Amino acid sequence: MVIKNSTTHTSVIGFSLIFLTTLPVSSDQSTVPLFDDGSLPYFQEWPKIKSDIPKRDYIEERVADIVAQMTLGEKVGQMIMPEYRQITPKEAKQYKIGSVLNGGGGWPNENKHASALEWALQSDKYWTALDQAYAGRGFRIPFMWATDAVHGNNNVYGATLFPHNIGLGAANNPELLFEIGRITAKEVAATGLDLTFAPTVATPRDYRWGRIYEGYSEIPTITYQYASSIVKGLQGTEKELRSEQRVLSTVKHWIGDGGTFNGVDRGVTFYSEDDLRNIHAMGYYSALEAGAQVVMTSFNSWQNYDLKGKSINSKDRNNNRFGKLHGSRYLITEVLKEKIGFDGIVVTDWNGHGEVEGCTNQSCPKAVNAGNDLFMVTDNKDWKAFYQNVIKQVQGGQIPMVRIDDAVTRILRVKMRAGLWEKPKPSYRILAGEQQVLGALEHRKVARQAVRESLVLLKNENKILPFKQKNHSYVVLGSAANDIQKQSGGWTLTWQGNENKSQDFVHATTVLEAFKQVVGDKHVYTDPNQASMDAIAVVVMGEDPYAEMYGDIKDHQTLAYSELKPSYAKDLQLIQEMKKKGFKVVTILFSGRPLYVNPELALSDAFVAAWLPGTEGRGITDVLFAQNGADFSGKLSYSWPNNKCMTTINENSRNIPNYHVPDFEQTGEEFMPLFPYGYGLNYAIEQNAASQPTLFMDKRQWGCGETKAKDRPTTNLEIFSREATTTFVPKMSGKVTKWKGTFISRAKKMTVGSASILSLNYKHQQDALRIDFGKQLPMQLYIQTPDKKGLDMRHYLTANSTLEFDIAVKSEIPSSLKLAAHCVYPCGAIAPIQKELKAIVEVSESEWVTVKVPLQCFADNGVNFSNINTPFLLYSDEPFQFDIGEIRYVPKEKGITENTMSCDIFKPI
Ligand code: BGC
Ligand code: BGC
Repeated sequence: MVIKNSTTHTSVIGFSLIFLTTLPVSSDQSTVPLFDDGSLPYFQEWPKIKSDIPKRDYIEERVADIVAQMTLGEKVGQMIMPEYRQITPKEAKQYKIGSVLNGGGGWPNENKHASALEWALQSDKYWTALDQAYAGRGFRIPFMWATDAVHGNNNVYGATLFPHNIGLGAANNPELLFEIGRITAKEVAATGLDLTFAPTVATPRDYRWGRIYEGYSEIPTITYQYASSIVKGLQGTEKELRSEQRVLSTVKHWIGDGGTFNGVDRGVTFYSEDDLRNIHAMGYYSALEAGAQVVMTSFNSWQNYDLKGKSINSKDRNNNRFGKLHGSRYLITEVLKEKIGFDGIVVTDWNGHGEVEGCTNQSCPKAVNAGNDLFMVTDNKDWKAFYQNVIKQVQGGQIPMVRIDDAVTRILRVKMRAGLWEKPKPSYRILAGEQQVLGALEHRKVARQAVRESLVLLKNENKILPFKQKNHSYVVLGSAANDIQKQSGGWTLTWQGNENKSQDFVHATTVLEAFKQVVGDKHVYTDPNQASMDAIAVVVMGEDPYAEMYGDIKDHQTLAYSELKPSYAKDLQLIQEMKKKGFKVVTILFSGRPLYVNPELALSDAFVAAWLPGTEGRGITDVLFAQNGADFSGKLSYSWPNNKCMTTINENSRNIPNYHVPDFEQTGEEFMPLFPYGYGLNYAIEQNAASQPTLFMDKRQWGCGETKAKDRPTTNLEIFSREATTTFVPKMSGKVTKWKGTFISRAKKMTVGSASILSLNYKHQQDALRIDFGKQLPMQLYIQTPDKKGLDMRHYLTANSTLEFDIAVKSEIPSSLKLAAHCVYPCGAIAPIQKELKAIVEVSESEWVTVKVPLQCFADNGVNFSNINTPFLLYSDEPFQFDIGEIRYVPKEKGITENTMSCDIFKPI
């Protein structure tokens, strides 16, 4: 094992591998320094933090003076932050709403390519509305706009995109984080906005969590260092924060977001208070000390460690300590505000208050009383109701007026510290509308440096790397070789980051493009059959982008890359084929988490973990070709699994990395990671087959959340056919039936509204239906289980089954025709299928066609197969006549691939 401190600056701690510190630090200590050996202090109590942006009398007096003059309505208006598409400037004026946010994928005028100026002009509208609203009041309160600039100003066209936090953690360079913060602030200022919801300082402890990549490291040492650097970069000093080049920073999500049981997003964190304080809170201490002005409350719940596995009892749910963080007066008011001494704004997460026991999006006095100050109530109907409800709840005594005054004081204090009274309207600010600030060359240089420093070399046998560009040709292949989405991950232009095309980026270089730039088009092949045998194969593979719960690895899944999606399996096949052909293979992995890749690792001559690097693909070739002496310096900030279910870092391992929870199913013992925290090769290290760690070839066939292999189905499940049991029943409904379903009998001719249904002989007697949706539309035909809890169909998903249905089309295929599947409400996925069905029907020689859709497509778009309620639904707004034959789930072994629809057509419901 090589331990190298690759950083050159003095402010940075050495990269020590074991942080075994038990020295208590007294709680009245006002700062949180690292020990000389680079380890973190241990806090017996919640420490009191001294912020770099202290209370100033002139601000406190001015704020108090304004608050004293405000009406209750004006106060509540300051406490609400809607999503800006859910509020018009007119409504903002009427309700005196003090701030808005744009959700991921919210752009001015719904224009994904909106310019910096369009953003600023959009912000102007709300700024002006609020300014006018206060006319004649004798005082004014400026407006504020928040955005998720979490890896650069990522929601904006043309902005510089940095690697996601997981990659930055591997770089372990706090000065770089300062630069990234400073640049991101400039690019946010260029759009005229005021506040970013970053950084995330989670300490993710389970690789199944869909937000792993938003965290810097599995132990908080790097996070502790980074949190202060990036906050200082974003906000600057007390004085710089008032300038037009900096923005407010939010530390999120308070607290324990990375510790949820089984890595379930928004789940329950079973950690003792001591571990919450010393593992999950570490980033907050340094961020708040650096002056961070906003903290975002987390979606997760907290429950004491002893109660793990038990559901939270109603007493605990209702007290103000455990349960949903948004309702925890203990953690928000007593700990964060009183003990730690945070005097800025606590903002709720996206309708997070509505998830508190006894609350809705429209009403939650418990979350107000818990100490949340600013409420992200996103939707129009919700924020309006919330506004009225808070007023009533204050008048009715459910919410004390002092609580409201505390919230508003904090909001105004932060706005004043950010100089918002002095700043002109957004488009008049110094950088606002300056298009060239977005993605400026000097900004992208820093992003490219960040990419170089984030790469971790896991294998380099017989010095295949660095590449010698003069002598070689390269075959660049794999699902991620030319895929900017896989390269940039979630929170990129949209929330999920999966609706982007290359034209949505001004500056973006994929790995394939980077290779062409370095060695010239004629030395780069994408077809192995055309390349000479001395070419080197570069296989770039990677996860599809995801955000939040969409990225969770579900109970029936594991960390095995090639088993997560059929499309990922092709990458492994590709590596196998290339090796068989005799090529040397260098594999590059884009992922938001460490994954089990032992089959791929075993076959590859070199292997690079490249995380989610963003747009600067040249950073990767810089290092692969050792351009200007570039070498690998990244070190794992998450340990790397050696089996499919090495998912979890032990709850009470505090700051000791590599301490995974025992995996009893595999061995009954603790499993050591394949590559420990801190691992990373470079070109100076010689590696041959003998120096490789032993790869465990895991044969596990069932999910990490399952205790044993469910019997893999080998036979079809008949959903609708002569053999189908009463497990599922056919029904029809429409607008005309007020969506109430009518059971369809095959024995008689029926009508539902203006639709007619006739039974038909297909393969057998009366085994099909002839359907005419009629003129009263929309109508839908669906097959449903009467079981309210839905049916567990995960074994069909794990068996890589397809949904197949036999259909004979009798009329034009309507453009509104959709195929859907539902799990227990609200859950499901839907796909427009006109085009795909037409294509299938057109080439078919017979009238009847069998249409196939992989269940995985439904699962990827939100269908939970543990509670399937409606496995099949056909919907149309326009007339449609068709015969429907058998409908079934078919395990893969029996399936054939023709007539299979693409997953691209699906959307979550
Ligand atoms: C996320 C936050 C984000 C917010 C606003 C939430 O769903 O949890 O991290 O800042 O949305 O987009
Ligand atoms: C928004 C995100 C937000 C998410 C929360 C999305 O519609 O665009 O910003 O985090 O909802 O569920």
